[in-house]
Amino acid sequence: MKLYTLIIFCSLVDKSIGISDWDVFATKTTYHWATGRTINPFFADVDYSFLKGNYECKAVHVNMVLRHGARWPTDSNMEHIEELANKIKENKTSSLFTELDNWANRYDLQNDGKLVQEGMVEQEFIGRNTWMRFQTLFEMYGNKYVKFVSSSKGRCIQSTQSFYNGFYKTMDNKPIFAYEKNNKLMRFYDDCDRYETDVEDNEENFKELRTFEKSRDFQNVIKSVEGRLGLDAGTLSVDDVYQIHNLCSYEKYIYNETTWCNLLTDEERQVMEYSSDLENYYESSYGHPFNAKIACPLLDNMLTTMEISGDKSRDFDSIPQDNANGYLAAKIYEGHSGTMLPLMTKLGLFNDSEPLKSSNREKMKNRKFRTSHITPFSSNIAFVVYSCDDKLSSNHDREMMVKLFVNELPVTIPACNNEVCTLQSVLDYFKDIRGDKCDLEKLCEIKPVSEASRHIPVTFLYLIVLLLISYISFK
Ligand SMILES: *[C@@H]1O[C@H](CO)[C@@H](O)[C@H](O)[C@H]1NC(C)=O
Ligand SMILES: *[C@@H]1O[C@H](CO)[C@@H](O)[C@H](O)[C@H]1NC(C)=O
Ligand SMILES: *[C@@H]1O[C@H](CO)[C@@H](O)[C@H](O)[C@H]1NC(C)=O
Repeated sequence: MKLYTLIIFCSLVDKSIGISDWDVFATKTTYHWATGRTINPFFADVDYSFLKGNYECKAVHVNMVLRHGARWPTDSNMEHIEELANKIKENKTSSLFTELDNWANRYDLQNDGKLVQEGMVEQEFIGRNTWMRFQTLFEMYGNKYVKFVSSSKGRCIQSTQSFYNGFYKTMDNKPIFAYEKNNKLMRFYDDCDRYETDVEDNEENFKELRTFEKSRDFQNVIKSVEGRLGLDAGTLSVDDVYQIHNLCSYEKYIYNETTWCNLLTDEERQVMEYSSDLENYYESSYGHPFNAKIACPLLDNMLTTMEISGDKSRDFDSIPQDNANGYLAAKIYEGHSGTMLPLMTKLGLFNDSEPLKSSNREKMKNRKFRTSHITPFSSNIAFVVYSCDDKLSSNHDREMMVKLFVNELPVTIPACNNEVCTLQSVLDYFKDIRGDKCDLEKLCEIKPVSEASRHIPVTFLYLIVLLLISYISFK
């Protein structure tokens, strides 16, 4: 009996001060927390081939987009952390949480947004897994026909380097590290006036988020933290509690320490997570129709590479000469959460049947749109093109197929509502955003909607009618 009481007591203590789930930090969640994978669970060639009816399918092209790995806070974050820690230290009246009294800020502005060790580990891990999952394909092509593209940000370049280190880990003759910096593809949301006015700076677009921040659920988190620390009501701002939530994550993945985690309960962390999801939903995903549109340069580039590399008439059993007409065995793109979310949205992934709102957190508890799971650090989306040959047909019928992987696991492709689709059906589904039809500059223009411009054609018509009438009457 005593033992039972002890066990119950211990588990209660655990719940209130510890942290039971680490996959609750929205876009500050590490890949390992999100997926639960720390050692490679994939065996060699696991995704390289499959059978479908008489068809034997073999991977011929891997097209993968990743978010950079776990990083340091950005410089503005670091400044806020310094102010927040000082404010708490100077005003705190509670004798609990003594570890905060001596907490030293170890964040160095020079590290602004750079990758941390954990981020390099994540990327190397995924690079290694990717080589293994398609081992036969990559062993055949060796160090040829793999291309890297990244945004110009240091964390994306570092991520590319780490992915490369994992990918070529066991190769004796590693190719020189070559990559293309391309912000048009990886940061399509930068310098887009229309995105700024309609989405980012449009307060109306964030009304659900602001309402949620004023809700009892959210305000109670602020009050509870203030209560625990013995701070006057009103000492902590909305941004301060977001920062406390983030600090729990940063401190754990950077220093393996949990000082800040103790300020929030599991339930309170879920409130913060929902609030972050609301922000991402309206800033980068289904919450605003423009968000999916701006992903077109990247998706168009991915589909073009898949189309060229998946050319049905190619002999996939022999290594092409240097002039491979654009064939690539793999194209690896490194970007940001602002890259991943619009791309996922354009693909139609993780689309809940109703929008996230300030009022439906409880109902959306099992929502698909949970950034802690879909866009943690190093999250990734990969289309894989397969060449499928009919083993029974005498004229060697061939069909090009695709699969879609999110965070290395297969998902249903919304474009054809199946796990395996023909390449052509995916290309057809997105035909309206290909080539000339994806003009980012035009998309990003702010449309002139002045009254005068709308009336010009009408005035012009009147003029013609008047001229006609005078012409007829003069005749
Ligand atoms: C808390 O401490 C800061 C100094 O960091 C001080 O400016 C402020 O007045 C104090 N009180 C409150 C309620 O913020
Ligand atoms: C992190 O800290 C915990 C306990 O404080 C310890 O058991 C664990 O081994 C540490 N992990 C690493 C990677 O150092
Ligand atoms: C997302 O789902 C909603 C509701 O089911 C639907 O109306 C909308 O068209 C979907 N959006 C996309 C981009 O697939």
